[in-house]
Amino acid sequence: MQRREAFYSSTEEAFIVIRITSPATSANLGSGFDVFALALSSPADEMSFREIEDGVRIVAEGYPIPASAEENIAGYVAIRILSAKGIDSGVEISIKKRIRPKSGLGSSAASAAGAAYGLNELFELDMDREELIRFSMLGESRFSGAEHADNVSACLCGGFTCVSYSPLKAVSLPLPEFLEYAVVLPEVEVETRAARSALPRSVALSSHVRNLGYAAFLIAGILTGDPDAIRTGMRDEIATPVRSRYVPHFEELRSAAVKAGALGLAISGSGPACIALCDSSSGGGRYIAGIMKDFYRDRGIECVTYSGKPGDGCKLL
Ligand code: HSE
Repeated sequence: MQRREAFYSSTEEAFIVIRITSPATSANLGSGFDVFALALSSPADEMSFREIEDGVRIVAEGYPIPASAEENIAGYVAIRILSAKGIDSGVEISIKKRIRPKSGLGSSAASAAGAAYGLNELFELDMDREELIRFSMLGESRFSGAEHADNVSACLCGGFTCVSYSPLKAVSLPLPEFLEYAVVLPEVEVETRAARSALPRSVALSSHVRNLGYAAFLIAGILTGDPDAIRTGMRDEIATPVRSRYVPHFEELRSAAVKAGALGLAISGSGPACIALCDSSSGGGRYIAGIMKDFYRDRGIECVTYSGKPGDGCKLL
């Protein structure tokens, strides 16, 4: 497959354009705060990269994002990579922002990881997965105030990922055939920074132990294809109790989704989107998405839904 497409300028000089998609991701999945995330098959941003004489130039369309490179997450990651790798030239990054910012669907991670992935391809930097994650995290930490690697790992690797921070590593799990997701995004905005500052600074050992058990069950359920274990594994006693206030009618929504057959419902990242994991043979993703859409519409809250199988990570178009 042709991966590096050459274009010609008006002066007949050839230049390379790298075009990629960078997917939405849903972090935490209940028990895995800052550790678990799932890549979604939609929505996704489209980004293209081309070398320019110097500096970082951002061209954006879709949901509004800053045009100044320093203030733009992709721009900021690009600046850091150019400087760390000693690259003399610059880059123009065109972004079709399809993932709504402040949605809990990894919009900033898609920009950060997309930039790292795109520059790696454009300048043939040969960065490995951990280095890509490290550069992507710089963008996340600058704009959300915390160095979390969950969204960027799923965005780069695809599927269901787990991360360890010390040492920094990410692993992508094989998924059961039946696994689907349904996401509902109500028309409210949540700043990751604010949602993180609401979290407790410390947790009781008993809560930690219960959450660790849920996390172990979620991984076991995914690896062995056991829907019951996934059901147990989406519980959470640490972040969800304090963050559910940012999600309209969260407990009722969860009851409605589970009653309709969802394996569980969790706040997606810092919200307000919520994600249900589903079994395609009973209450699949599309059906549960419809239930959640009706739930919010009945309460006068506009929303959008997404559903499908887990998606790939960043890839070349
Ligand atoms: N794990 C992060 C959080 C994800 O929950 O704050 C942010 O999207």
